[in-house]
Amino acid sequence: MFLSEIRQDIEALSNNILLFEESNFSGRTEAMDDIDFYIIDRIDSLVNKLKSHSELAELKQLAENLRSRLEEIDNNLFIHLRSSIRSANLSGIAFKNAIDKYLANSQFLNQDEMGYDNLDLLVNGIFSFRALPDETMERETEMVFFQKTPARIIFELVEKAHFSESDVFYDLGSGLGQVCMLVNLMSGVISKGVEFEPEFCNYARICSAELNLKNVEFINDDARFADYSDGTVFFMYTPFTGGILEDVMNILYIESQKRMIRLFTYGPCTLDIVRINWLSAIKNDSRNPNKLNEFRSFDRRQ
Ligand SMILES: C[S@@+](CC[C@H](N)C(=O)[O-])C[C@H]1O[C@@H](n2cnc3c(N)ncnc32)[C@H](O)[C@@H]1O
Repeated sequence: MFLSEIRQDIEALSNNILLFEESNFSGRTEAMDDIDFYIIDRIDSLVNKLKSHSELAELKQLAENLRSRLEEIDNNLFIHLRSSIRSANLSGIAFKNAIDKYLANSQFLNQDEMGYDNLDLLVNGIFSFRALPDETMERETEMVFFQKTPARIIFELVEKAHFSESDVFYDLGSGLGQVCMLVNLMSGVISKGVEFEPEFCNYARICSAELNLKNVEFINDDARFADYSDGTVFFMYTPFTGGILEDVMNILYIESQKRMIRLFTYGPCTLDIVRINWLSAIKNDSRNPNKLNEFRSFDRRQ
């Protein structure tokens, strides 16, 4: 009884021709979740209860084969998207439209919800196509470990920043470089990442070179010692806390004496930034650390 139900579920997915269309990334993501959490989990839980292990093994093999076929379609999709980015055919609005097409019918998290969604799966497939590097440096306690900014927050940043040709964007604590690469790809703005861990920085450099992105640079340095003399728009996904955050904000204060700067924050660092008196928050709900927040220095020319 259970076994025939499982077989029917696998057949229903295998016979759904829509899942094999390259554009149906959302459908495949959902189907792969079903295979993992509904079909394979059910098979594993039956192994201890049923005598007929050979049929269970056969069903598991069928489910895994189907999963591999779906994964291969996604991998080809990522290769195809990377190749279009490399030949400069997919940037700005065209990139955004392609993403919308592949994610049609997906459920997304709201801007103030925690976690990752299908947009992250697609973006990770495009940008993080190499094995993740191990850290080689010991972090100080105030240095926050690597964690990616959810892609929807980066998209929101690009929409709100209205970059101009004279802007230079910095991601402080740039990790594997996804923020800088996406921001540059979608807006064309010069993007620079400052990252303490050399292996993360190398990873980001290799990915942006493979995607042939122009005007993207990764600087391997402690954010306390980098040169921000050309920076106009800064982003922090809580890269550091305490004294390091204070030191970096003092450097940005000095920069703000020369020109107006903007700072976007995400995560708990926002609660420290709202207390800084040389910055003004652009929106009233800036105390919510789960939202993208924007601050501006007072324009000294006014
Ligand atoms: C929360 S992660 C954010 C990564 C990246 N911005 C993203 O969203 O994908 C914080 C990053 O800051 C880096 N970091 C921590 N302290 C740093 C410092 N003092 N200078 C430069 N980078 C630092 C960490 O190595 C880590 O990659």
